[in-house]
Amino acid sequence: MIIAVDGPSGAGKSTVCRESAKRLNWSLLDTGAIYRCVALIAMEKGVADNPVECGKIAQNLDIRFVASKSGQKVFIGDRDVSTEIRTFETTQCVNRIAPMAEVRRELLGIQRRLGHAANVIVEGRDIGSVVFPDADLKVYYTATAEARAMRRMKEFEAKGEKFNFDEVVRQIKERDETEFTRKESPLIQCEDAIVLDTSNLDFEQSCQALIDLIQKKVLESSHA
Ligand code: DC
Repeated sequence: MIIAVDGPSGAGKSTVCRESAKRLNWSLLDTGAIYRCVALIAMEKGVADNPVECGKIAQNLDIRFVASKSGQKVFIGDRDVSTEIRTFETTQCVNRIAPMAEVRRELLGIQRRLGHAANVIVEGRDIGSVVFPDADLKVYYTATAEARAMRRMKEFEAKGEKFNFDEVVRQIKERDETEFTRKESPLIQCEDAIVLDTSNLDFEQSCQALIDLIQKKVLESSHA
């Protein structure tokens, strides 16, 4: 089965998908990590503003996900890039390269190939709409901008960093606007997706809500 989980940034989708996949003993495909790998190489080569060059990087991307005790590791060739793809600079860069048609086109095949595991949760922005439109279950995982800002606040506080709530809400809304309105594969809520609004749920409840949806689908399919 393929479960497509799409939704905006900062709602905790990745962490919840990872934990849910672990508890179900399913595979997980974090498609954002694939875009991040392209961004990392593009930055290193100094071509992050060149869509054609970024497309070439995407076309030749030799990416592997490797299970480890501390979670899933991401490799480009033999190089472990799990940490580098999560830095602030890579995040800034990936937001610029993800909208490029040349990149999205090339990454489509890679995502479909990697996503064809036995039972897999595939998470991203356009999984239900573009990558796996025939997914067995589509979930639109979201939370209000204010709830997402509160989650960020906890992260900031844990690191002892200063935090302006209104500013973070503003940044989140701005980022949403970019993802909703971009020309290539904008983030949309598919008509056949089940909306999982986690604004009032904590981490544990969010995992359980996703797991419940998946288990219900598995049960329905086994009766079909
Ligand atoms: O989920 P994330 O923050 O790791 O995603 C990184 C970037 O890639 C972000 O700009 C959204 C983009 N992305 C995308 O456009 N389509 C996907 N399927 C996954 C991620």
